[in-house]
Amino acid sequence: MERTLIIIKPDAMERKLMGKIISIYEQEGFHISAIKILKPSAEIAKSHYYEHKNKSFFKALIDYITRGEVCVLIAEGVNAIELVRKINGATDPVEAEPCSIRSRYALSKTENSVHSSDSLKSAEYEISIWFPEL
Ligand SMILES: Nc1ncnc2c1ncn2[C@@H]1O[C@H](COP(=O)(O)OP(=O)(O)OP(=O)(O)O)[C@@H](O)[C@H]1O
Ligand SMILES: [Mg+2]
Repeated sequence: MERTLIIIKPDAMERKLMGKIISIYEQEGFHISAIKILKPSAEIAKSHYYEHKNKSFFKALIDYITRGEVCVLIAEGVNAIELVRKINGATDPVEAEPCSIRSRYALSKTENSVHSSDSLKSAEYEISIWFPEL
């Protein structure tokens, strides 16, 4: 069974979309094995997005992800990493597949409602930062 780390981002939390979004992953058959709600510190946000630290949008990204509560969860299932990214859709909602979460709910390329890990290595890294107790 594969594990992936999902974040429901502040724009979605602010619009009370948490339950709807979690239901989508459950309906697709994924098992939610851990979940928490927190307002991320700049430190944890920078660790999570370290690979983008030299990008022009990095400061805007950290300001956005730390501006309010997020819901962080671990989803487990066959091929979870690839399938959850498909369910989330492309980064930019304009390019996201019609039924994907981002095409339905994202506001912009930055405020795009959800995150999920993009490889086995990033999933294990992200789980270790957000769920150090596991
Ligand atoms: N060109 C951009 N302009 C503004 N924000 C961006 C841009 N590219 C990415 N972002 C923001 O940074 C996040 C991380 O970018 P990345 O390239 O890893 O996309 P992703 O893997 O689809 O998204 P995530 O890592 O959040 O799941 C995006 O989800 C988005 O919030
Ligand atoms: Mg990414």
